[in-house]
Amino acid sequence: MQDKRRIIAGNWKMYKTSKEAVDLVQGLEDRLDILADDGKGLEGIEIIVCPPFTALKSIYTVLWQDKPPVKLGAQNMFWEDEGAYTGEVSPPMLKDLECEFVIIGHSERRMYFGETDETVNKKVKAALNHRITPIMCCGESLEQRQAGKTEPFIESQILGGIEGLTANDMKNFIIAYEPIWAIGTGKTALPEDANDVISHIRTVLASRFGTDVAKAVPVLYGGSVKGGNIADFMAETEINGALVGGASLDADSFADIIKNAR
Ligand code: PGA
Repeated sequence: MQDKRRIIAGNWKMYKTSKEAVDLVQGLEDRLDILADDGKGLEGIEIIVCPPFTALKSIYTVLWQDKPPVKLGAQNMFWEDEGAYTGEVSPPMLKDLECEFVIIGHSERRMYFGETDETVNKKVKAALNHRITPIMCCGESLEQRQAGKTEPFIESQILGGIEGLTANDMKNFIIAYEPIWAIGTGKTALPEDANDVISHIRTVLASRFGTDVAKAVPVLYGGSVKGGNIADFMAETEINGALVGGASLDADSFADIIKNAR
């Protein structure tokens, strides 16, 4: 993949009040200004931040005023447009704040909030219907990896998540491969192992939609990505970028990842 899309997305999880979120995004803007002028520029790299729901409005206002090269995403949403679903947030509500992306089926949602491939599939379809690009997550546990079951498990997550989608839907689609044992642990997958799993994800996509479509869907790696290891992941042929948790919560460390991902 010579001219692959390069995407760095920050998943802020349940961190940052609205004011802290604004401080973080403004700190990031300052650092991106410096990177934009350092000769290498920021062209060719897409930057996304996914703050908690409560900070979306304030971040949207900052992005709208300052127009930095940063796009907005949410971390979850419900599949219905409206209704008696206490505590849920709908696709039109995210659209209203110009959220262009939404993370769907993060392993923490699957683990703590009972999300399944079936609910992931409903959410992915709802996102696509509202022209919000899903960042659909998959990833195996340590037990599954040790039992040699990574590929069949990932395959079932991918097939479950994309059930009923068309090749056209895949034009607006991002996948994040995040081995659960690498999330927040400081232990990353080996870049070549992540590349192999992502290559398998593309084989699965190709079996449904053909090779050209499979090649064009960006697939990110996630799990303890930092400024010091991002370049090794970006150097792999199949990896389009990263979904970053912990290291996206600090302007310096997130900017460092962007810098080294160019
Ligand atoms: P981490 O999280 O970078 O803190 O490992 C990644 C994620 O959960 O998306």
